[in-house]
Amino acid sequence: MQDNPVCDNRNAENNSPNGWVYTETVKEHFLNPRNFLMGDESQYPYDGVGTVGNPICGDQMRMYLQIKDNRITDIKWKTYGCASAIASTSALSELAKGRTLDAAQEISAAEIADYLGGLPEHKFHCSVLGHEALRAAIQDYRQNFDKARNAL
Ligand code: FES
Repeated sequence: MQDNPVCDNRNAENNSPNGWVYTETVKEHFLNPRNFLMGDESQYPYDGVGTVGNPICGDQMRMYLQIKDNRITDIKWKTYGCASAIASTSALSELAKGRTLDAAQEISAAEIADYLGGLPEHKFHCSVLGHEALRAAIQDYRQNFDKARNAL
């Protein structure tokens, strides 16, 4: 089997304040992800949807937003991502719900990691997956909103 330099961590240093250990908050969000869309997505009405893939690992994320008066009133998401992506997106969904679209877009990877009590440094890229899906869903909403406004 050929080594994959991106996915092979056998020789990685302990490069995080948390080392190889996930915090209890990360584990809790992984095991009980908030706002995860269970079941048939066609049953969930949404105003914006975004789907992205992580080019580093090939994982995918889809996020659905309900929006009222420029504010996120509900979020649902699905993913083929790893434990860190699931925990990070769970945290992101909690942080973003209730915020204006602009404020939600400003949520950073560092804010997500802080919310979770830290993430191993080499898993930071996993939190980008939910963040990019959120941005894509907001962009989708804005494009549809502009189309509807221009049609008037
Ligand atoms: Fe792919 Fe974490 S390894 S999202």
